[in-house]
Amino acid sequence: MLNQEQIVYLNGEFLPLSQAKVSVLDRGFLFGDGVYEVIPVYGGSPLRLAEHLQRLENSLSGIRMVPPLDRQQWVLIFNRLIHGVDDQSIYLQVTRGVGTKRDHAFPLGIAPTVFAMCTPIAPIPASGVKAITVPDIRWQWCHVKAITLLANVLQRQQAVDEGCAEAILLRDGYAMEGAASNLFAVVDGVLLTPPKGNDILPGITRDLVVELAQANTMKFEERGITVDELRRAEEVWLTSSTREVLPVVELDGRKVCDGVVGPVWARMNGLYQALKEELRKGHSVFNIRELLDS
Ligand SMILES: Cc1ncc(COP(=O)(O)O)c(C=O)c1O
Repeated sequence: MLNQEQIVYLNGEFLPLSQAKVSVLDRGFLFGDGVYEVIPVYGGSPLRLAEHLQRLENSLSGIRMVPPLDRQQWVLIFNRLIHGVDDQSIYLQVTRGVGTKRDHAFPLGIAPTVFAMCTPIAPIPASGVKAITVPDIRWQWCHVKAITLLANVLQRQQAVDEGCAEAILLRDGYAMEGAASNLFAVVDGVLLTPPKGNDILPGITRDLVVELAQANTMKFEERGITVDELRRAEEVWLTSSTREVLPVVELDGRKVCDGVVGPVWARMNGLYQALKEELRKGHSVFNIRELLDS
């Protein structure tokens, strides 16, 4: 829940959320012309901060923008926004800035709009969630974490309208990812996730789960998941920075894994929670050196 008096960052200033305002000529407002990041924070320490900032830089470069701040400057901002040790996430957004008129082409010489805030992370439902499948109607640059999210918004709302937590997106006979999450499925005892490319977001949680699977010698393959495999999967999971590793126990009204969370998920979730615990114990402040060396 957002608190209007919470302090947020906007264009060089720290101010109460209720006072943070941007122009109606901001290109984020007019065109969705910008990118964003969501970084989970446990015990006051961001998880995989360097990877998130690298993805931000990649997204900015994808839309022909240069990073408005360097990594050290981001860290200083986050340090002021993070409150206490409860689980929270940093939301940060960079738009191309405010033009003098509404014109699709980039205005020259404008400063980007930079916004950041912290939001509590709610615990995931340990008994799993329901999901639906929908056609993937998004554009062809899904690897860019763009704020232009209308397709994802419509897909997620369709899931909510049907009493579900997420929509899984289908394209050309394959299950790609969720409206705001990456996809894993256990099929014939093998953990699968689609390879990274322009058609999915390169999730930071996804990469972490892949590393955990490999480091713990779980049977794992990075390859496309066909719609048929998704429907007969022993387990289906969704991953994201705020939903962690979320088990799906019902898909399109049919039970997955008899409607309960599966053993492979339980193992992976244990590994993921242990990692969070390490972060909570190990770092009370940012490891700036590690970040700057990366
Ligand atoms: C479309 C999409 N895929 C995947 C993810 C998961 O990415 P991450 O694990 O970096 O949060 C997100 C997160 O918002 C997303 O919007």
